[in-house]
Amino acid sequence: MSTKALAGKVAVVTGGNGGLGRAIVRRFISEGAYVAVLDLAPPEKTSGGSLLSIRCDVTKPESVKRSLAQIRQTFGTVQILVNNAGVLGPVATVAEINVAAWRRVIDANLTSTFVCCKVLAADMIRASYGRIVNVASIQGKEGTALAGPYAASKAGVIALTKTLGKELATTGVLVNCVTPAAVNAGMFDQISAERRADILRRIPMERFCSVDEVAAMVAWLAGDECSFSTGAVFDLSGGRSAY
Ligand SMILES: NC(=O)c1ccc[n+]([C@@H]2O[C@H](COP(=O)([O-])OP(=O)(O)OC[C@H]3O[C@@H](n4cnc5c(N)ncnc54)[C@H](O)[C@@H]3O)[C@@H](O)[C@H]2O)c1
Repeated sequence: MSTKALAGKVAVVTGGNGGLGRAIVRRFISEGAYVAVLDLAPPEKTSGGSLLSIRCDVTKPESVKRSLAQIRQTFGTVQILVNNAGVLGPVATVAEINVAAWRRVIDANLTSTFVCCKVLAADMIRASYGRIVNVASIQGKEGTALAGPYAASKAGVIALTKTLGKELATTGVLVNCVTPAAVNAGMFDQISAERRADILRRIPMERFCSVDEVAAMVAWLAGDECSFSTGAVFDLSGGRSAY
């Protein structure tokens, strides 16, 4: 018998071609999972073996449903969903941001999570087993000047996690989220040096989070060892978060 924590499990990772997503996919495959990546960006690696890459807009239910049909055919029933796709959005004040930009960020970060949970949880409920891990952000707890839509969308992801965790608590499907502070990869590369220095000053461990640290926590939440946590928010902030 394999001792790998996710051996034989079928996982979906949205935004799996981005900075954090790639690390999560790598970790899941090393733990023995079959992984389907849903991403708008072209795949870094072609599908094959335990990886299936699908071009999909995760804000669109029809697009996610089509992808699910393909995943079922290739790997079988999905047991794990990681809602990781997202965008940073404008670095500007609420006064400066227009409604279209607001909607784009809320859609990419929050509506996508809602859509994927709706479409993918049904099979998990039927099978009385599932793990959903949402990638939120510390900004959803704290709010961040110059990132209103992003922070609000991540607060929404936290509240959706708590809600769905409660709704599905007796079904065998656990729903949790992680709230990283700055991870030195992916969308963080879009942030100015001055803003990075300011973020670093607020992290008691005096360093940024690594993608592998995020992947390790996500992998634990996606596995069987996570069994009595649902609707919960897992910190990855190097001591910054007070709750
Ligand atoms: N990098 C950080 O510092 C940090 C910190 C906390 C939380 N996060 C969160 O981690 C997640 C991953 O971020 P990242 O830093 O790897 O960014 P990234 O930009 O490298 O990756 C995001 C991925 O999501 C995909 N995506 C965006 N919209 C999509 C859509 N509608 N449909 C399908 N795919 C879509 C992009 O194509 C991209 O591959 C995001 O949810 C982000 O908010 C990142």
